[in-house]
Amino acid sequence: MPERAAAEVQGAEDSRARMMEDVRAGLCGSGQKELPPTYFYDERGSRLFDEITRLPEYYATRAEHALLEARAEEIIQLTGARALAELGAGTATKSRTLLRALTARGPAQYLPLDVDGETLAATAAALREEFPALDVIPVVADMRDDVAVPRTRHPLLYAFLGSTIGNFEPNAARGLLRRIRATLRPTDRLLLGVDLIKDASVLHAAYNDARGVTADFNLNVLRVLNRELGADFELDQFVHRAFYDADLSRIEMHLVSQRDQRVCVPSVGDVHIARGESIRTEISAKFDHHSTAAMLETAGFRMTEWMTSPEALVALAIAEPIA
Ligand code: AVJ
Repeated sequence: MPERAAAEVQGAEDSRARMMEDVRAGLCGSGQKELPPTYFYDERGSRLFDEITRLPEYYATRAEHALLEARAEEIIQLTGARALAELGAGTATKSRTLLRALTARGPAQYLPLDVDGETLAATAAALREEFPALDVIPVVADMRDDVAVPRTRHPLLYAFLGSTIGNFEPNAARGLLRRIRATLRPTDRLLLGVDLIKDASVLHAAYNDARGVTADFNLNVLRVLNRELGADFELDQFVHRAFYDADLSRIEMHLVSQRDQRVCVPSVGDVHIARGESIRTEISAKFDHHSTAAMLETAGFRMTEWMTSPEALVALAIAEPIA
């Protein structure tokens, strides 16, 4: 087998083993069942998420995009960045504005990090065409354990946008930010996008859209497990539920079982789910100035800029590593 193909087979096996372990840990215990949101994003899930970003109820992507449009040049100028890394780059739609501002100031590098090698390769090819002077260095990485980037031109601006930090429990978020901190040099900066605490009805609507796209997106994780692990989840036996927990300042997304059921997940075992019991598939934490600064500080960063969108829907924070 050619070396490259062998590496891909190995990678696929590692990720299947990881998925099996996540299912075992998340569904086979006696407490709240849960699955990591990572598994929403196969091709269909990524398409559904894309559709979510265009829904009238889902303000977050539009608001962040507008904020980046308004502030990109200032962000590049303030940080002096000559390279941009982006964790969870996907198709790099979020960072194009930053890339325009970056390349306008001379030679630059872009390091997209993403868990999906195919998406990454397509993104890199498209960007090389669009920005001929940009040196694109794709990095395949699962952000749950690997966020490091190779040495770059400096300073580097390390972007983590789209409020994805909100999908991590506080401890895991801190751990992730610490690992980013460890890959940065003193002159490098972090650009973090967060969703802001706001009226509960606005938050509720964003995760319970009228067309049911979010519900379909939520159920997609079961499709992925059926395909990848040969599980036999019946999608019509689960119902989408999303609510805002004001005490924890976060949305929780669940799949609620409509009846007592036993699901077979080959090589993991049988999963028993009672009627009315739920699988938590995502948390999406909401922040304010104080909680963002505090989270960054416990991870070894000092927040130096705080930029909010009109109507205070989302924010961008710039932070420097504390020496
Ligand atoms: C882009 C991952 C941050 O938590 O709002 C959208 C994903 N989930 N609708 C979010 C999502 C349900 C989204 N993130």
